[in-house]
Amino acid sequence: MDVAVSVAREAAALALSSRPSAIRDVDTKTSKTDVVTAADVAVEQLVRSRLEELRPGEPVFGEETGGAMAEPGQVCWVIDPIDGTVNYLYGLPWYAVSLAAQIDGISVAAAVLEPETGREWTAIRGEGSWRDGVSLRVSDATRLDMALISTGFGYRAERRERQAAAVARLLPKVRDIRRPGSASLDLCSVAAGWVDGYVEHGLSRWDWAGGALIAEEAGAEVHLSTGPDALGPDLTFCATPGIADQLSVAIKEAGLTEEMP
Ligand code: IPD
Repeated sequence: MDVAVSVAREAAALALSSRPSAIRDVDTKTSKTDVVTAADVAVEQLVRSRLEELRPGEPVFGEETGGAMAEPGQVCWVIDPIDGTVNYLYGLPWYAVSLAAQIDGISVAAAVLEPETGREWTAIRGEGSWRDGVSLRVSDATRLDMALISTGFGYRAERRERQAAAVARLLPKVRDIRRPGSASLDLCSVAAGWVDGYVEHGLSRWDWAGGALIAEEAGAEVHLSTGPDALGPDLTFCATPGIADQLSVAIKEAGLTEEMP
């Protein structure tokens, strides 16, 4: 975790300082709305070179430049250089650098840092999770109809049409829905009790690798699409235990657990 935090601090500083020029140098990826700024690439490169110095030989898997997964039992670093790139582009402060260490595809240490606020979300598997050093605990919600749930949408039009229709079916059953725009921070928000649950279809490993551990260590029930207890193809599920069963039934009825284009 110490390595993750120190590298993520440097990365966060670069994301913040390079924003004025980086948002003028923008490319697109999976669709015309899926943007990548010069900072996404520069931050990932910085993280890769720092990890090479501090943890030589350990593989790094990142959003912008991919990379090989590790050998069994070996540490692999998973980086999302800017999670919430669209927010970053617009100047909305809700974005983060997410860095996690995984072994056999399971996160064991994590740092999710918010460049704009300086907030630091961290976790070590089996030891807990913290915001700026203060231990995190999920909310004590027990009623789905009084629960605040966050979610997100993919970048492809066909997929988001299906996602939005499913979320519309969920909306009457909960207190309200939020779409903040950064998956790692959505997961941290469950950890902090800022929302009671989070579900999103179609995330990549770098989106959840840091935040899912932070939420789990704060007591959340987490089901990842890569795990044996996945609730649906490509589905990331995270909730405080008091509403987890009700939410899993509701998202199934809403169609969020189905395969989507
Ligand atoms: C995106 C954000 C967003 C989520 C998308 C992700 P990016 O990550 O986490 O909240 O809805 O699915 O791709 O592209 O900003 O790194």
